[in-house]
Amino acid sequence: MNPVIDTLCQHRTYREFDPAAVMPPDHVQAVLDAARQAPSWMNGQHYSIIRITDPALRAQIVAVQPGNPQIGTCSEYWLFIGDAHRAARCSQAHDGSFAAVGTPDTVLTLAVDAALAAQNAVIAAESLGYATCFTGGIRLVAPELTEWLALPQHTFPLFGLCIGKPAVQMRLKPRLPQAAVVAENRYPDDALLDAALAEYEQTLLDFGEAREKLPYREKFARYYAREYGERNPALLRAQGLLTHPEGLGENG
Ligand SMILES: Cc1cc2nc3c(=O)[nH]c(=O)nc-3n(C[C@H](O)[C@H](O)[C@H](O)COP(=O)(O)O)c2cc1C
Repeated sequence: MNPVIDTLCQHRTYREFDPAAVMPPDHVQAVLDAARQAPSWMNGQHYSIIRITDPALRAQIVAVQPGNPQIGTCSEYWLFIGDAHRAARCSQAHDGSFAAVGTPDTVLTLAVDAALAAQNAVIAAESLGYATCFTGGIRLVAPELTEWLALPQHTFPLFGLCIGKPAVQMRLKPRLPQAAVVAENRYPDDALLDAALAEYEQTLLDFGEAREKLPYREKFARYYAREYGERNPALLRAQGLLTHPEGLGENG
């Protein structure tokens, strides 16, 4: 239809990169420019991007992320940090109380702003012929990253982004049937969803992605049945980002 839509519709994640490939500075800058031009809540730009350029630090991150070895072979590895620290500085400059920062809305705001900037980066990188892989797995080591990157209060590491030259081609992964994710005027019935999920499960079994060990529905059933660790809620509280999980009440 047009080159932008073509790029978007050809998206796929790559997990094997050419370790010798280097991303030239003008390409790095172009992708950063695209990321930074993303829309954001109140123009708050509630994220920071930390490029991991120190090989020792990169190796340290790879060591604690055995499920994501591509972190070690991509040309550029960027960590996206949800960031209300600059908002705290604004508050400080005006002697504000900053009380509302610890509510769930803040976490949503940071996650949305960071995701929009990151996806802009993905689209820009792919348009330049690079391959990408998000690494949400880094949330397993969010406390460690917070320490290693010297993240201040009111920040939280959300996900990483690998950018590089692919070493192995990947196939376009099918998506859920459109009716399961796009509706008109009201949410779809469960009967429609259940049929779509069964259909999609079979589609993915036929697709046969080696890294997927479980049928689609079982994967999510198991994921959401698991015990949830306390590390990240504790970190969110310690970082001042979830000090008021119930909100501030009617007058807050
Ligand atoms: C927030 C987020 C976190 C992700 N984390 C990982 C990850 O830790 N490791 C990985 O290999 N892929 C990760 N992915 C990639 C997804 O697995 C991938 O986008 C999905 O399976 C769809 O495949 P496709 O991008 O090839 O179409 C992540 C994607 C997103 C959006």
